[in-house]
Amino acid sequence: MENMTNNDVMLRLTQIHKRFGDLEILKGINLELKKGEVMAVIGPSGSGKSTLLRCINRLEEIDSGKIEIKGRVLAQNNGENVAEYVSEKESRNILSCTGMVFQQFNLFPHMTVMQNLLEAPVQVQKRKKEEVIPEAEALLKKVGLLEKKDWYPSRLSGGQQQRVAIARALCMKPDIMLFDEPTSALDPELTGEVLKTMRELADEHMTMMVVTHEMNFAREAASHVVFVEGGVIVEEGPARQVIDNPQEERTQAFLKNML
Ligand SMILES: Nc1ncnc2c1ncn2[C@@H]1O[C@H](COP(=O)(O)OP(=O)(O)O)[C@@H](O)[C@H]1O
Ligand SMILES: [Mg+2]
Repeated sequence: MENMTNNDVMLRLTQIHKRFGDLEILKGINLELKKGEVMAVIGPSGSGKSTLLRCINRLEEIDSGKIEIKGRVLAQNNGENVAEYVSEKESRNILSCTGMVFQQFNLFPHMTVMQNLLEAPVQVQKRKKEEVIPEAEALLKKVGLLEKKDWYPSRLSGGQQQRVAIARALCMKPDIMLFDEPTSALDPELTGEVLKTMRELADEHMTMMVVTHEMNFAREAASHVVFVEGGVIVEEGPARQVIDNPQEERTQAFLKNML
């Protein structure tokens, strides 16, 4: 049943190509992320998953293709099939609705947990500190770390640091959250608490794109799974369908290795 208007598409990638030197890393990626959808991106190491995420928020720039975020064009091809970006200012504006969480939590080490959360809303969004503090406290409570608000990151476990990183991203009030293997740097016993936080976000219908090796998470929390190998989408579909009953040989081989 096709009952979606264009407004429901939060992210659309069309024929994305990205090279590093002579190496073509992304070879024509097309995908669409709808409001409230949780997309898990899976695939072997080196297949271009991080590059794909980094292209979405312009940490890397694509060579050709089109990127649309909430219906606004970030980059698209000119007449020569070369991607051109909108101005820096417009780009920042368009990307302000995205939040990203990295494998390495990337907290500011010289700032307390609370200061980490306040930094971007106050410095970038120019919001009043007094106004952001209650929101930051609510987010820390949500990730179960309110009592750590005055701690420095180095005193926290990896799982706690990653939950702070998630709260920090949420403090910017994003409409789309991008996660790049958020649990890969964690000891196994700490991945659960981070996955739980992400699952709660998914349950609240946050639009999410999650690169992950956690197949259980992908199967249970994602609405949609995309399998990437060698810079192309080999297979995609409803999460359980792709993970429990993959159609492509390459997907089957990858999943077999993961179990
Ligand atoms: N900044 C870069 N410069 C050159 N090569 C890069 C750069 N970033 C990634 N690559 C290469 O692109 C390929 C895909 O990397 P990546 O997107 O990190 O894969 P994945 O996240 O799926 O493991 C790898 O071969 C990697 O070495
Ligand atoms: Mg990666």
